[in-house]
Amino acid sequence: MAIRQIRIQSDPVLRKKAREVREITPTITKLLDDMAETMYDAQGVGLAAPQIGISKRLVVIDVQDEKGLLKLINPKITVRSGRETAIEGCLSFPGIAGEVERAAEVTVEALDETGNKISFVAEGLLARACQHEIDHLDGVLFVDRVTRFIEQEE
Ligand code: NI
Repeated sequence: MAIRQIRIQSDPVLRKKAREVREITPTITKLLDDMAETMYDAQGVGLAAPQIGISKRLVVIDVQDEKGLLKLINPKITVRSGRETAIEGCLSFPGIAGEVERAAEVTVEALDETGNKISFVAEGLLARACQHEIDHLDGVLFVDRVTRFIEQEE
């Protein structure tokens, strides 16, 4: 595994619509491992492949709950319900935080790293992380959705 460089702010790769993964090759599984290592190193709860400069529909999430590390290939949200506002940040926007309204509960469908179809219902921080990371795959950044930026102490 290797820690990759995280792309920040105005890097154009963050604005590209990422491509679907057609085949789960060793390159893809290695990439997911690197993404997880990079996320943990940066103390984040989620990371999308475009954030390390790879425009593919891959996401890793770990909100330290019973689901543990999730490696999601071609994830999509199929059901959304409720609304909830909370403070978010992003590894690609160090030092920036703001309030974002998201669905309170979502159903996510994806492939796991062995190619099995998985589906789960998420709420709270996990629901938020799923929405935030899947946004990254469409070139949408949390700063686009912030309703109020929060002053942060350094
Ligand atoms: Ni982010």
